[in-house]
Amino acid sequence: MNIFERIESNVRSYSRSFPVVFTKAKMSKMYDENGNEYIDFFDGAGALNYGHNNDFIKSRIIEYIESDGISHALDMFTGAKGEFFTCFEEKILKPRGMNYKIMSSAPTGTNAVEAALKLARKNTGRNGVFAFTGSFHGMTIGSLSVSSGKSIRAGAGEPLYGTTFVPHPNTFPGDCIAYMENIITDEYSGVEKPAAIILETVQAEGGVVVMSDQFLRDLRAFCDRHDIIMIIDDIQVGCGRTGKFFSFERAGIIPDMVTLSKSISGYGLPMSLVLIKPELDIFKPAEHNGTFRGNQMAFVGAKAAIEYRELYKLEEKTEENAKIVSDFVKERILPLNDKLEHRGLGMIQGVDFRHAQGDKDIAGMVAHECFLNGLIIERAGPNDCVVKIMPALTIEKDELMKGLEIIEAAVKKYI
Ligand SMILES: Cc1ncc(COP(=O)(O)O)c(C=O)c1O
Repeated sequence: MNIFERIESNVRSYSRSFPVVFTKAKMSKMYDENGNEYIDFFDGAGALNYGHNNDFIKSRIIEYIESDGISHALDMFTGAKGEFFTCFEEKILKPRGMNYKIMSSAPTGTNAVEAALKLARKNTGRNGVFAFTGSFHGMTIGSLSVSSGKSIRAGAGEPLYGTTFVPHPNTFPGDCIAYMENIITDEYSGVEKPAAIILETVQAEGGVVVMSDQFLRDLRAFCDRHDIIMIIDDIQVGCGRTGKFFSFERAGIIPDMVTLSKSISGYGLPMSLVLIKPELDIFKPAEHNGTFRGNQMAFVGAKAAIEYRELYKLEEKTEENAKIVSDFVKERILPLNDKLEHRGLGMIQGVDFRHAQGDKDIAGMVAHECFLNGLIIERAGPNDCVVKIMPALTIEKDELMKGLEIIEAAVKKYI
């Protein structure tokens, strides 16, 4: 039994899907201790949009450390934070006509979600929150309360209060907005008007489920009509994953709050932010704090990542790569079984085995076969039935094709 199996808590998970010891990584390749090479289509669950050890970002962080730049400062003013804020304002917010205050929350995505929920309640004086079926927002109690998965909710070990789950528009046969309108205006519905609605424009852990532009616009209008705070959780599909920097830009809407984490630091370093419309920025000083909010190396990486994105035209590259993935899936994987489904946007795409696999776990067998053939890929959705294709945005075309061919061969073997 190795040291991990012997001493690490049973809660470990990804090491069960990929049971080797990784020691090195470069852009879209990872290497284990025996020198075996793997193409990475998992991307640190979306934390490595710029690839592993991206040289452009790495050199800035090394330079910063070697110059004895501040490494820890809670939320004091620092040069690194100031430079990141300036860059974010100039290159991300202003060109999009966005006016947000930036809250540096403690470094995990779930903490940003907790902060946004607290702030929505404080602003409205209401307690309830609406979330969509299929949602995932993190593992701390507040975030779990707005996440719909049965088994992770059970792990809370206590009742999770305050959330009304609304059927996701893509699976609800009726009009989802009319449904919400009905339950918040009918005094006999038993449902109070919520403080906020929290959503992922593309549910990632939920199985790559893409909300339409029109639905996002209708939801924005619904929130405006009823004075409900719209929180978009862009933790997994922001930072260029769907093409544009924010995943909701395609709908031309401005949420009241946005949570960001994962790839915001550009280098897989812990960092999270909540973007807040100025009129909602009413936390008192230190009302939401944490020792490790404001990771200084992450600020340095985050600024470099935004510059890299511009310099290397990552938005165009994402569009080109996304087309390669969707063409490949449509032309070479879907024809293998007419019950397979394909969904996605930009560089998050999924092959859904739900209807093709019956009571077998073909998605699991495919992912495992891919790993044996040098591809790291994860699953998502109900019963993990969706194979999620999510490489770094920087992936080279030959690596992308090679990874897709590994998936094709695995599907051929098991379908
Ligand atoms: C949409 C979304 N929100 C929140 C989180 C939680 O982020 P973290 O794992 O950093 O707490 C995740 C993580 O996968 C996520 O995908």
